[in-house]
Amino acid sequence: MPDHETLPALPDSSTGHVGSYHRVLPVSLERMYENTLDWEHLPHVHASSFSAIRILDAGSWGWRAELCDAADNRSVIELRLDRQCRRWITRNLEGPNQGAEIWTHVFPVAERRLEIVVDFFVPGVAAAARDKVGQAYATLYARLYDEDVEMMVQRQRALDQRVDGGDTRVDLGPRAQLQTPITVKVGSRQIVVREVAGELVAYPALCPHQLGPLDQVTVEQGTVTCPWHGYRFDIRTGECLSGQSCRLSVATLREEQDRLILALSGG
Ligand code: FES
Ligand SMILES: [Fe+2]
Repeated sequence: MPDHETLPALPDSSTGHVGSYHRVLPVSLERMYENTLDWEHLPHVHASSFSAIRILDAGSWGWRAELCDAADNRSVIELRLDRQCRRWITRNLEGPNQGAEIWTHVFPVAERRLEIVVDFFVPGVAAAARDKVGQAYATLYARLYDEDVEMMVQRQRALDQRVDGGDTRVDLGPRAQLQTPITVKVGSRQIVVREVAGELVAYPALCPHQLGPLDQVTVEQGTVTCPWHGYRFDIRTGECLSGQSCRLSVATLREEQDRLILALSGG
């Protein structure tokens, strides 16, 4: 079986089945469910598909939200996760695709390997047009999963590498010889050191929310915006400027006998 493929509509379907998408994903069931319930990432990780989200309700059952697509069409979408059946059902409650349902079943084949089968049901599509509509959904889902896989694999790697302990300070050498920006390892943590308005700052390369990559984003006026859920942080103070209750644990830099010492909080 190929790693991903589009399957045609069920012939003569009376339920509006327009096609299926099948894919093998290099992730655990835990990462997959986490991603499914994670409504916050939609306008950030999938910025080419969604421009905004407003959550209406959310819990371990799933979520319901108002979503805008890239063309500013508004929809109300509900996702219900059923762990016992290893599936989630996404329903379009309002908007241009009202009535459409997407059923996803997941089959774990190894600790970090899943197969998913996504079935697309769209009411009111003429029999002759079903495959075309199914193909459009499959193309969209292929892109969404490309983006999700990258995020899930990166998060898993960050979790695997996360071990507490080890050094809490590092000698960066003479200040005049330090080339910035630079990412340095302190114990098990990666810390970015860079200059902001003539002042040296040091902050974690991973986001405190879910370990998104902060070292790969552009610094704007002393702030970084995480690419996964859009939390924005002041890299001098660690304050979360987008209003969520988390904080970037900035490191301190001080000169000791002409050498620059970087110390983690409490180190
Ligand atoms: S990982 Fe969620 S905002 Fe950074
Ligand atoms: Fe996603």
